Amino acid sequence: MSVDEMYQQLKHKLGSVVPDVELRLKAELAVEINRLKVERNAVILGHNYMEPALFHSIPDFKGDSLDLSRKAAQTDKDVIVFCGVRFMAETAKILSPSKTVLLPSDKAGCSLAESITAEDVRQLKARFPGLPVVAYVNTYADVKAEVDICCTSGNAVAVVESLHSPAIIFLPDEYLARNVARETGKHIIFPTLTGPSDPAFATELDYQMIGWRGRCEVHEKFTVADIQAVRQQFPDVFILSHPECSPEVVAASDFSGSTNAMIRQVEQSDAPHYLLLTECSMGDNIAAANPDKEMLRLCMVRCPHMNTITLEDTLASLQQMRYIIEVPEDIRRRAAASVERMIAIG
Ligand code: 13P
Ligand code: SF4
Repeated sequence: MSVDEMYQQLKHKLGSVVPDVELRLKAELAVEINRLKVERNAVILGHNYMEPALFHSIPDFKGDSLDLSRKAAQTDKDVIVFCGVRFMAETAKILSPSKTVLLPSDKAGCSLAESITAEDVRQLKARFPGLPVVAYVNTYADVKAEVDICCTSGNAVAVVESLHSPAIIFLPDEYLARNVARETGKHIIFPTLTGPSDPAFATELDYQMIGWRGRCEVHEKFTVADIQAVRQQFPDVFILSHPECSPEVVAASDFSGSTNAMIRQVEQSDAPHYLLLTECSMGDNIAAANPDKEMLRLCMVRCPHMNTITLEDTLASLQQMRYIIEVPEDIRRRAAASVERMIAIG
């Protein structure tokens, strides 16, 4: 595709939200990335949170964490460029060890992945021996290696129900865990690891889920007061929240689901206004794909990690083959078992 054709494609999708001068620059970058992608025999995976010009120009596959981990397992290309954050690129490497996996920024972390270590999981398992352990995919490979099965926001309830266990450990997102507990009718507790003198040490015997107090630094910021204020101004608004939001926010919303599920819900319904309680770029991407829908977003909170992935860095990534994701083989093998068990559930 020529630069002019790419510019026309971007203008058609984004002309109403991105100034022309920027679209021309982005079109040049995107064409060069797509040329190098072929030269390197690479595939580009783009998470739904990528900024609109990147999202609409270079990914071969776009989607939520679950979708992209499936795509990473299926590709026959030599190189996977992951336009997302580090735990997602690690999951691609876990599933495709013979491929070179590149993450365009070395700053694309995640507050949830950073909230728990492999040692924390070992200690929890020692405290609650014999319980199956579920880890959200928003964790690093060494944590995935310690658990029995992974889940994403798109399949967390199905994964928990598949275990048929009277109690489980579910890590590390407190709010996702609380939302899953509510949906599956389980009582959840959040013990500490420090010992009986700590008031939060688990003394309760009646529980079906053990959680951890990790939080997404984006979704934890949305409040019920935000929802009330928007509903007052737009009484007919349809509100969608990601399950990393608090249970109170999820309960006050009209729909909650993974990033893919939210996109599908907007596409398949017909409300006068929609409000997305998630990373703001996704609202821009949905608005571009559905020009007939009126999207409202609360953009005061952005994911500082997802936002480090730019077209410029993706080009540099393919030019310099950086940043290469490595996972030690013993950790990779054990982490792969947890991710593959999740993928098998569907
Ligand atoms: P999804 O799995 O819904 O795409 O979400 C990933 C994520 O990091 C949300 O903050
Ligand atoms: Fe992590 Fe939250 Fe950013 Fe998703 S939005 S990558 S969970 S910090």
